[in-house]
Amino acid sequence: LTRTSSVNTLNHSSYIPPWTQPYIIGIAGNSGSGKTSISQQIIQGINQPWTVLLSFDNFYKNLSAEESKRAFENEYDFDTPESLDLEALVDTVKALKSGGKATIPVYSFAKHARTDKTNTIYGANVVIIEGLYALYDERLLSMMDLKIYVDTDLDICLARRLTRDILYRGRDLEGAIKQWEKFVKPNAVKHLNPTMNNADLVIPRGLDNSIAINLMIKHIKNQLALKSAKHLRNLRNVGVDFDFN
Ligand code: CTP
Repeated sequence: LTRTSSVNTLNHSSYIPPWTQPYIIGIAGNSGSGKTSISQQIIQGINQPWTVLLSFDNFYKNLSAEESKRAFENEYDFDTPESLDLEALVDTVKALKSGGKATIPVYSFAKHARTDKTNTIYGANVVIIEGLYALYDERLLSMMDLKIYVDTDLDICLARRLTRDILYRGRDLEGAIKQWEKFVKPNAVKHLNPTMNNADLVIPRGLDNSIAINLMIKHIKNQLALKSAKHLRNLRNVGVDFDFN
């Protein structure tokens, strides 16, 4: 890249130009561990325009009629990594990583199916990938700048999950407990909990651990400030100047 002779000066103090590559954060943990709330806290804490929250929840595979029947009887395993369309997720993160746009399906937990709606995301500065298996697939891990595991006690996870399933996901108590015993807990022990080893940061006691959450947010803010400064330097090198008076 060569320095151009004309200098463009952008005179807006709050304007942060989009980065060429987003900062990507992965957040994993058991169902009900508080991944979504911690993601929201990060979003509020960093207060960075163009932040995108990408949830694994939108990437469950479509079910056949027979699988769907089992799902309504709480007999379908939504907790094995195979229940997710990891290929689509990897393609989505790759597109965002390279500054492109991505189309995200919208999922209905009450219907066990994708809705006919989608959301389109254009270039993001920060992407937060949240899901049971956020720290499971090598291809996703290799694209992440920070990997977080939320380590909440399973009893607390179960209590939160039951409340949420019954109030917001159209389930009954008996079915929700059956699903937990048969699929959620065994898969957590076998496939999910070992992914803690892939984390850079583990948050013990999850949402209750405000010290760890605040430290994590401070670290992310530092990293973003460094990335932003580097980005501005690169822009100045190609002749774009910023006047922050
Ligand atoms: N699931 C379900 N029915 C579906 C699809 C998924 O019951 N049709 C359940 C799976 O059993 C899985 C859970 O959804 O365990 C994944 O969502 P979860 O991680 O619990 O929710 P988040 O809000 O993403 O995370 P957190 O509770 O940690 O905030």
